[in-house]
Amino acid sequence: LLVNSERLRADLQTLGEIGWTPGVGLGRTTFSDAHLAARAWFLETARAAGLQTLIDSAANHSAVLPSGEPGARTLLLGSHLDSVAQGGRYDGALGVLCALEVLRSVKDAGLELPMTIEAIDFTDEEGTLVGTLGSWALTGALTPDTLAAPRGGREHLLAELDRMGLTEAGLLAAGRDPATLAGFVELHIEQGPVLERESVDLGIVTAIRGNASFDVTFTGEARHAGTTPMDLRRDAGLGAASLVLAVRHTVMREFPGCVANVGELHLRPGAYNVVPGQARMRLECRSLDDAELDRLADALAAQARSSAAEWDLEVEVAPVGRWTPVATDGEVRAALRRACEALGLSSMELPSGAGHDAQVLVSVTRSGMVFVPSHHGISHGPAEHTTWNDCVNGANVLLRATVDLARSL
Ligand code: GLV
Ligand code: MN
Ligand code: MN
Repeated sequence: LLVNSERLRADLQTLGEIGWTPGVGLGRTTFSDAHLAARAWFLETARAAGLQTLIDSAANHSAVLPSGEPGARTLLLGSHLDSVAQGGRYDGALGVLCALEVLRSVKDAGLELPMTIEAIDFTDEEGTLVGTLGSWALTGALTPDTLAAPRGGREHLLAELDRMGLTEAGLLAAGRDPATLAGFVELHIEQGPVLERESVDLGIVTAIRGNASFDVTFTGEARHAGTTPMDLRRDAGLGAASLVLAVRHTVMREFPGCVANVGELHLRPGAYNVVPGQARMRLECRSLDDAELDRLADALAAQARSSAAEWDLEVEVAPVGRWTPVATDGEVRAALRRACEALGLSSMELPSGAGHDAQVLVSVTRSGMVFVPSHHGISHGPAEHTTWNDCVNGANVLLRATVDLARSL
């Protein structure tokens, strides 16, 4: 049993054009026109294949191949069709396409499985609004607190929900009964260099790094940049600059194996001739260990306070999302390993440095991930690439593992 690789290739090409700008990359941030077009295309393609479709109250989009057995549980497959602002064609999208192709292949083969299989495109994995919003909603783990302090800002979230005809109540009510779920398998690009460097076909994910994110705001005094003497300034930009360097030094010296990033920095009011009165930064840090993640986040918050003290500023450190590090499920890993062996493909176990929907699903159902290699390890940029052969290998492993799990879980 193999997937229809020509059909999958045509889909990858079609979907990869939706939101693509040459020289810039893929722009499919959550609820952008391109994102909505990609989701519409996904459901149309599923319907054309004779699959059922479903949109829940968190706007998760699904294609469904129901089992003939009454009361059958659902094995979820999938990932996300949204992207970062200038992303690549593979992150998330490949997982959704391979999931869809698995459903079509099972249907074409006339296989009767004792489980319903569902290919799902989760809402807002990348955090334009909240981050793993759809998967949190589906697991019932979404809380009003999370919606009160989202990564993309509270006002932006409310405006976007309103524009899309969604509500906070709907998001909070999208939880599924875990008893109806049998498991979740997410195929994804590795987004790092390990598989390519080791010349291994597929990666079986053992664990997923946690993430703690913060909005840091330094406040000083906006003054005339020509007349205010250097020693009388309260320059918020200096606090930010000092923190950017301190974040790197703290991780490198005290938290080996962890990572941290300042991904956005805004100085206000923002002019050549005005000393910045305010600096706002988006900061995140990641670890594979829950307690270490807390220690790292605390250390970075302490750095923010000492940078503020050093430059005579006020500082506010506001948490905007925390994702717990998790281990994947042993039975899902074993099924993926069996699938690789049966197909004569090499595999290795590795942790995921990036966050994923599977990280959230772990809390309610047996969840695991399979990685395909990323050329040069590049991701979250237009140069993201996975060879066609690796895409097909991944799809075939997902198909085999799905049939295996549908019969064994
Ligand atoms: C998801 O892409 C992440 O930020 O890890
Ligand atoms: Mn992704
Ligand atoms: Mn991503």
